[in-house]
Formats: sequence, structure tokens, C-alpha cells
Amino acid sequence: MILGLETSCDETAAALITADGEILANVVSSQAELHARYGGVVPEVASRRHLELVTPVIREALVEAKTELDDVELVGVTTGPGLIGALLVGVAAAKAIAWARRLPLASVDHLHGHVASLYLEPHPLEPPFLCLLASGGHTLLLDVQERGRAPRTLGTTIDDAAGEAFDKGARLLGLGYPGGAEIDRIAQQGDPEAFDFPIAKVPGLDFSFSGVKTALLYAVRKLDPAELERQRANLAASYQRAIVRALVERTQQAAAEIGATHVAVVGGVAANSELRASLPGAALAPLALCTDNAAMIASAARYVGAIPYPGYLGLDAYASIA
Ligand code: KG4
Ligand code: ZN
Repeated sequence: MILGLETSCDETAAALITADGEILANVVSSQAELHARYGGVVPEVASRRHLELVTPVIREALVEAKTELDDVELVGVTTGPGLIGALLVGVAAAKAIAWARRLPLASVDHLHGHVASLYLEPHPLEPPFLCLLASGGHTLLLDVQERGRAPRTLGTTIDDAAGEAFDKGARLLGLGYPGGAEIDRIAQQGDPEAFDFPIAKVPGLDFSFSGVKTALLYAVRKLDPAELERQRANLAASYQRAIVRALVERTQQAAAEIGATHVAVVGGVAANSELRASLPGAALAPLALCTDNAAMIASAARYVGAIPYPGYLGLDAYASIA
């Protein structure tokens, strides 16, 4: 059995899966409410909360899986990219558990984790496939050839990530944090054609979301509070439509360019209902595995080559990919 831990941002998560990828427990404690009043994640607040939550969350996962630490054979933990202080809490906890039981430890890249959300039962996906990874921190088009090999990056965002664009847009619309799910919800009552927001034309297979965000800002500024109230659903629907179109167009373009026959979508933004409906035939990460969780980290831990006891004691966390 594999224990996965994830603390890279504002979710404290622990999961237990079998070597075959069956999820026995997947506990996610979101700190969203804690950070909501600041309109975004406050790194120092996140670290402290991870510290309080990590042990109870692991305990809850063990109870849910009806198992004990004695049955764990491998510990997988996110070592980056993410908030460094937040990551360190998970890494320290993973090291302590692995070291105390002389277990191997797998250092998992958070982005590899998102991709590995597709490798879990009951519907595991087999590479090769083109993967759109859209989250709060990243927007990537990946050419995934093998589960254990780092994918080739075909495109990325040159400014904001797609999830970041949702979150910033939500803030402009006076919606709560995190904003993606809020925009998704409110957009259901709006007209996506009400406003014409641009889709950035950047060269190659890259993305850009700063223009659409600025367009929303200008549209909001033109409205008085009562009009904004009336137009909020229309603005949300039109804004969501622009982001989803950009994601879908680039994904289809990338698939055509590399001749990919299978397309997959992962990451927090993969939870978006319009995006899910706009890519028929694509493999979509299950909703519970789109936003940050530890089952995907445990899943990736199977493919990275675990570090044997006690070689991981000097293992460090890293904030960014470069
Ligand atoms: O993968 P994730 O949990 O964390 C990162 O690795 O960044 O992604 C979080 C992002 C947030 O920006 C959030 O607004 C967005 O995913 N998100 C959504 C939806 N649910 C979460 N965006 C659009 N529609 C949704 N339903
Ligand atoms: Zn993530």
C-alpha cells in the first residue's frame, strides 16, 4: 500500500492507494475558507495550517482505508513546485513516517501528480496521449509518452495560468475565492455571448490570459453597481467562454500537430463544466481528482523510482520548475 501526501498549496491531503491504483482513502482538507477573506492564499498562514492538519488528515485516511501505518510500503510526497513553506510540512511528515519505518520514499513532482490522476482505478488511462494540464499555477500542453518518463512540454502560458485567470476574474466580479468554481456556477445562469471577450493570439502552442482579464476589468469598470449586479452572470458566462475556447482551440491544434489520437484533461480547471462539455471524447480526470489531492501523488509515486531508506533524509522541496 502507498501513502501519498500533498501540501503544495492550500489543501492538506493524504491518500492511501494500492500498488494497482485502487483508491482506499483520499482525504482533502481545504483551507479555502481560511484564505477567502484575503482573496487568495497567504503562504505563511497556509504553512501553519498544514502543520496543524497534516497529522489528523493522515490519521483520517488510515481510518477511512481501515488500515494502519504498518501496512504502508511506500510514502510518496509532493516536493514541488508550490509554496516552499507549505511543501516543507508535507516533506517533513513524509520523511518522518518513512524513516521511522525504514520505508522507501518517492519524491513526486506536483504536475506529474496531476497527470497521474489519470492512472488510477477504475478507469486508468494508458499513454500515449496529449494532456492539457490547467490549474491555478500552470497551463501546460504535454506530450505524454510513458507513465514514468517526463513528458515533453508543447505549450505553456506566457502570463497567467488558466485557474489564475478564473480566480482573478472572480475577484473582479465580486465573487468568492477560489473563483473558478464560483464562475462555473454563476455562468450557468448567464449568456456566454453577452460580452465579446478576446482570445489571445500568441504564436505556437502557448497560452495568454492577461488580455481577457483586462477586458473583463474594463467591462466591469463601465458598469455602475446595479448594472454589474444585473450583468454578473452574463459577464461570468462570457469570460468563462473565452477561457474555455482558448484552452480547447489550443488543445485541438496541438493534437493535430503531433497526431495525438487521445486527449486528456487534468488539474483544477478540468473541473470546469463548460470545458468538460467542450472536449467530447477526451479523457477527463474524475471531478474529485481534478483539484489538488494526494491520491494523484500516491499514483505518481509508483512511477518515479523511490529513494531507499535512509537516502531521502536530505531531500529538499523546490518552489518552481526552473
Ligand atoms: O489543481 P489545483 O487544485 O491547484 C493548483 O495546482 O493550482 O487548481 C486550482 C485552480 C483554481 O485556480 C480554481 O479556481 C480552479 O482550479 N478551479 C476551477 C474550477 N474548480 C477549480 N476553474 C474553473 N472551473 C471550475 N469548476
Ligand atoms: Zn495542483
